Amino acid sequence: MPSQLDSLKQHSLVVADSGDIEAVARWKPQDATTNPSLLLASAQDPRFRHLVDAAIKDARGDMAHAMDGLFVQFGREILKHVAGRVSTEVDARLSFDQENSIARAERLIRLYERHGISKEKVLIKLAATWEGIRAAEKLEREGIHCNMTLLFSFAQAVACADAGVTLISPFVGRIYDWYKAARKVDDIAVEDDPGVQSVARIYAYYKKHGYKTQVMGASFRKTEQIVALAGCDLLTIAPDLLDRLSKAEGPLERKLSLEYARAQKIDKIYLDEAGFRWMHNEDAMATEKLAEGIRKFDADARKLEKLIISLSAAAATTA
Ligand code: E4P
Repeated sequence: MPSQLDSLKQHSLVVADSGDIEAVARWKPQDATTNPSLLLASAQDPRFRHLVDAAIKDARGDMAHAMDGLFVQFGREILKHVAGRVSTEVDARLSFDQENSIARAERLIRLYERHGISKEKVLIKLAATWEGIRAAEKLEREGIHCNMTLLFSFAQAVACADAGVTLISPFVGRIYDWYKAARKVDDIAVEDDPGVQSVARIYAYYKKHGYKTQVMGASFRKTEQIVALAGCDLLTIAPDLLDRLSKAEGPLERKLSLEYARAQKIDKIYLDEAGFRWMHNEDAMATEKLAEGIRKFDADARKLEKLIISLSAAAATTA
């Protein structure tokens, strides 16, 4: 009997959502995703201290460079264990700054290239704000592939597809968290889960209208949410949930497919900037979760910066 994980791999490309290099090595996924919160946890882990030290040494006192350098150090280690791509996030503080997001993305790619890693192996993660989407549109034209993150609303998904980005990461778990809190309940059954429904709707829209942008379901709280999205182009899954899927008996039924998409009644939408902002703003959950997500990634990046500063100071006194 195949496990749920084995069966899932027949329907979707399975990605590891982790900054833990040993976990990535254990699960051998096709691709891997990181974010500032995951890398903060890994940077504090003594097993990966050498990567922090290497980033500090390369940066020679330039803090922004040290942060990007750290992300790239983790990314290149992760790439030793995945056949595909690693996603590396641009500083959340640039979420509303198109030009500087482009510059930071280009710098991340240059840093990877300096380590002999081509841009084809990297997905640049940007928050799916209007400015982030415009930055991604330009980066894609330069051949830099983007993964649009913190994606909660249908408006964000429509704008990302129109911009021709490579991939989007619609969040399931954080939508589920918001609705659980709003409804004051401990759980929402998977059949009624607004996070799962959001990804299924976006998948149907993209496939039905022939968009090339791939859909990678992200941010899961329980295996049922993953199982309900079997067939989604990609699914990025944290190691604890990969473990549970590997221990559960399959096979899994494919839920998302071209046939599923074609059967949905879902009209094409045209959004300019005002239309995007209006439609996104109409969605209270998405408005709150996007803002909160940017604040949280920024807060964790600042903690990471403090860690780098204190380690650099300690290294300077012992030198
Ligand atoms: C992946 O790209 C996302 O950063 C991740 O899945 C977020 O998950 P969380 O909601 O558990 O933090």
